[in-house]
Amino acid sequence: MVVVAILAAGRGTRMKSSLPKVLHKLGGLSLVERVLMSVEPAQPKRRIIIVGYQAEFVKTAMQSVPNLEFVEQTEQLGTGHAIQQLLPPLSGYEGDLLVLNGDVPLLRPETLENLLQVHQENKNAATILTAHLADPKGYGRVFCDGDKKFVQQIVEDKDCTAEQKLCSRINAGIYCFRWQDLELVLPHLQSNNAQKEYYLTDAVTQVSPVMAVDVEDYQEILGINDRLQLAGAYEILQNRIKNQWMAAGVTLVDPSSITIDETVKIHPDVIIEAQTHLRGSTVIHTGCTIGPGSLIESSQIGENVTVQFSVITDSSVAAGARIGPYTHLRGHVSVGEGCRIGNFVELKNTTLGNKTNVAHLSYLGDTTTGTKVNIGAGTITANYDGFKKHPTKIGDYTKTGSNSVLVAPLNLGSDVYIAAGSTVAQDIPNDCLVIARSQPVLKPGWVSKKRQEKENS
Ligand code: UD1
Ligand code: CA
Repeated sequence: MVVVAILAAGRGTRMKSSLPKVLHKLGGLSLVERVLMSVEPAQPKRRIIIVGYQAEFVKTAMQSVPNLEFVEQTEQLGTGHAIQQLLPPLSGYEGDLLVLNGDVPLLRPETLENLLQVHQENKNAATILTAHLADPKGYGRVFCDGDKKFVQQIVEDKDCTAEQKLCSRINAGIYCFRWQDLELVLPHLQSNNAQKEYYLTDAVTQVSPVMAVDVEDYQEILGINDRLQLAGAYEILQNRIKNQWMAAGVTLVDPSSITIDETVKIHPDVIIEAQTHLRGSTVIHTGCTIGPGSLIESSQIGENVTVQFSVITDSSVAAGARIGPYTHLRGHVSVGEGCRIGNFVELKNTTLGNKTNVAHLSYLGDTTTGTKVNIGAGTITANYDGFKKHPTKIGDYTKTGSNSVLVAPLNLGSDVYIAAGSTVAQDIPNDCLVIARSQPVLKPGWVSKKRQEKENS
């Protein structure tokens, strides 16, 4: 049985922000949400967030997360002092306490599970996560004894002697405690150290036995203290996601220019070209080539689709369609199989039947078409009257000429031909040619007459 406590009371001065540090976003989720995610598979019995700086703000921001408890640390007197705040709410508790830092967002769930396993198998009083860093500056150094890595001492960077500073094993700030042991020593912590703080690390060395577990990938335990580290963490997160998709059979051309949310799904044999960004619940099926230069958000892309230099949000594209260059699909568009949507076309809340083409310079809003429709260059639906949006329906095989304006609400039957330059404001039955343009007025000899007048004046 495990209870989780997340340290999130600090201000995060180095972020230079009015937003509390743990609420800063990393790849769409706040730092503290990511910490919560890493602990989810351990199925904690309770999840307690220790808040302090802008406590109310943090609580409100996390309202939507179910079953969280908040404990307030009104003065930030150190990590040990923060955990002392758990004495009343955990009184009588007999299980383990997992302590995490709210600003360490890249931990893998497997790492925490391993920590818990070592802790429980060895019946430790405390087990701490450690790492070997090439540059351990700033971290607490952990001194161990014996093969099983029993922890002897943890010394904060600011309290280290020159010799102690050479130690490369650092304290990641992630701990598992047997609560009944910890609660006995917590009240007796002293603050006689360089920072005049109550250190949680002092409590660690006052219980026994304590083991250290080295994490293999040191990137997991990197803390976020400033914007540079936030950007660095995003890069690490992105590399993890991209490496995973490449291993699963996806080609990424110029991976460093591509970003992919962890919520995206990509089938094998997809090619993602440079400068492409995949977000939200997007799914890309096999055989697609996406990019270069595209943004796809929360959209479903069927098999063998190509998308070039385009933006697609909240939409679906069926198999074999070709999208772009410079297409914008938004607000629940559904593109049928084998459609071709081309240059400078915007579709909004529109459904296209199979093999329909909208190849150039068009806007269709609130429109439904049948199959094999051809929307001519520059066709525009006038779907908004200044108050309401109105629908347009277009039947199978219908063709709109270049520069048609379709004034909604409008029903065009199937097999309708609309002459170029027409403005259509009434419903049209099946099998009909519509020419809705004004008659030309011809004035023969007008130009030469005008020229003559100019020369005479
Ligand atoms: C701490 C560890 C250090 C370790 C490092 C890993 C101690 C004494 N030292 O140092 O050994 O290498 O983490 O990152 O624990 N916090 C509170 N209340 C407080 C003080 C801090 O909630 O009164 C929170 C902070 O918001 C932060 C976390 O605790 O999320 C760590 O605090 P921080 O001051 O950054 O500790 P470090 O000096 O980094
Ligand atoms: Ca610090």
